[in-house]
Formats: sequence, structure tokens, C-alpha cells
Amino acid sequence: MSETILVTGAAGQLGQRVIHHLIENYRVAPANIVAATRSPEKLATLAAKGVITRKADFDDAASLEAAFAGVDRLLIISTDALDTPGKRLTQHKAAVAAAVKAGVKHIAYTSMPSPDNSLVTFAPDHLGTENAIKESDIPYAIVRDAWYHDNYLHSMPHNLQAGKWFTSAGDGKISTISRDDCALAIASVLAAGSTGIYTLTGKQSLTPKEIAAIATEATGKPLDVVPVNDEQLGQGMRGAGLPGFVADMLVSADANIRAGKFDIVTDDFTRLTGREPQTLKDYFVANKAALSA
Ligand SMILES: NC(=O)c1ccc[n+]([C@@H]2O[C@H](COP(=O)([O-])OP(=O)(O)OC[C@H]3O[C@@H](n4cnc5c(N)ncnc54)[C@H](OP(=O)(O)O)[C@@H]3O)[C@@H](O)[C@H]2O)c1
Repeated sequence: MSETILVTGAAGQLGQRVIHHLIENYRVAPANIVAATRSPEKLATLAAKGVITRKADFDDAASLEAAFAGVDRLLIISTDALDTPGKRLTQHKAAVAAAVKAGVKHIAYTSMPSPDNSLVTFAPDHLGTENAIKESDIPYAIVRDAWYHDNYLHSMPHNLQAGKWFTSAGDGKISTISRDDCALAIASVLAAGSTGIYTLTGKQSLTPKEIAAIATEATGKPLDVVPVNDEQLGQGMRGAGLPGFVADMLVSADANIRAGKFDIVTDDFTRLTGREPQTLKDYFVANKAALSA
């Protein structure tokens, strides 16, 4: 394969794993990979392997055309700029516009499940970006990543310590997948130049009670699910010191689960990679120490 693949957000956790899988699993030559980031100095290890490193900051729209020059396939990793409404969409649109100007031949983008039918606060960013990509007329792959298993490493250690998990998700179900599996499937899309819309999920959709039982099984720690409403959940999170926009986002995610909008299971991961996704149980067992911390 001689196409040049550029990965934005290459210093982030997902970007690092995508590049790892491109090299190790899909045998893409490091010289055909451009790792683009706001902080190229963080990519010395990749540069030492022969990966090309470049600066790319979506907030500096004027610089992006040069950053994407000579690139055949571009992965736009959605940014983490959630604190200012609308900022992320502006950033992503700048990347798409630069891709058009630079003559990029294929765009892949990390979206979320059903952004057109979602209660999650950041869904409009993803929907707007998907639409901008479709309107660009560049062949594309939208890769809609489900909620990461990894997100539970933020909340579950505290829940398990307290023995209580406050949630407004009710008996709604969610299917989650590991960040690393998302990276593997995205690398497969980039290596093959696949087009279309893919939704990466696990094989099971689980209620909070089922997830709590898995956490207990993995750690040996009891965990009661405590149902609360959205307002109570938001107040509790703000009281615990979470910034308002983070609390609002997490409450909206619980509301989305309660409404059944994250109850989506596909086999897209297996179709792309030929593998089974890591189950939540296996993920919790592998991360028992972090969950029990
Ligand atoms: N599905 C899920 O459950 C889930 C969970 C968390 C996040 N996400 C989304 O997936 C993305 C990647 O996840 P992650 O786990 O790798 O998160 P992360 O490690 O926090 O990475 C944040 C990413 O945002 C990029 N970024 C921030 N500002 C940018 C800018 N101005 N221009 C270009 N890139 C910018 C960073 O790139 P550099 O630092 O390299 O510049 C980095 O790749 C997140 O940014 C978020 O949109 C999804």
C-alpha cells in the first residue's frame, strides 16, 4: 500500500492506538503514516519508528491545508473541546474544508451512534461534522464509536468504594466497546480505504444493574444501583465538583440510555476486523486494579 494516511489528534489516546494498529496489525509502513497533533514534541517515539510527524491544530484553520498536503487518506479524530458549545463543530469543519483544499481522497471521522437521534449534549457536533463530510464530496467512512468501556474507569472506582452507583439511566441498556477495539477497527478502515457508515459496539447491551453485577464479579466489591432523576444526578455531580458542562453531558448520556437510544448492537467491529470485540467483563477483569483503586 503506498497511500499516505494522516491521523489527527495523534498524541491522544485513540490516535496513539490507531497508529499502533496501522503499523502492527495492518502492516502499513511507518513512512506512509503522518501523525498530526498540536504537540509534535510528544511524538518522538513515533518519529523514531519512521512515522512522519506534523503540527495540526484545528483552531489554526489557515495552517491545515499545508498540514494535510500530499495526504491520500485522512482520519479526523473528534476533539475534546466540549466546554464551549459549537467550538468542536467549528474545529471539525475547518479540518474538512482543509481536506478539500489539500485534495485529500478519503476522509474517516470518529462519530457517535445515531447522532441524528440523540439526547447527548454533544450529538449536534457529530451530526454537523458528518454532514460537512458528506457535503465535501470526498469519499468517506463515518466510524460511530459507542461509549468506551474505558469511560467506566473514571466513575466506577468511586462507585465501588462507596458501594453505590447513582444513575438516571433506569433500566435502559447500553452497548459499550473498548477504546482499543475502536482504534483497531478505525485502522482497518484506513488501511483498506473502506467507505460507508460503521457503528462500533460490543455484542451485548446491558442495564446499569447488569453492568454493576459485572463490576462486582470482576472486583469482588458489592455495588448497589441507586435510581435518581436527571436533576438529582446533575446536582450530585456538580456537588462533587464536576464542571457544569461535564455534569450536563453525563446526565444527557444517562437520559439517552434511559430512552433506549444507546441500545444499539452491530457486528460492524467484526466485519471490519475479523475479531470479536472485548467484552465489558473481560475489560473489567483486565482493569481490576484500576477499578479497585
Ligand atoms: N466514545 C467515547 O466513549 C468517547 C470517550 C471519550 C472521548 N471520545 C471522543 O473521541 C476522541 C478521542 O478520544 P481519546 O480517548 O483519544 O481522547 P483524548 O486522549 O482526551 O484526546 C483528545 C483528542 O482531541 C484532540 N484535539 C484537542 N484539541 C484539538 C485541536 N484544537 N485540534 C486538533 N485536535 C485536537 C487531541 O489531539 P492532540 O492532543 O494530538 O493535538 C486528542 O487526539 C475525543 O477527543 C472525543 O471526541 C469518545
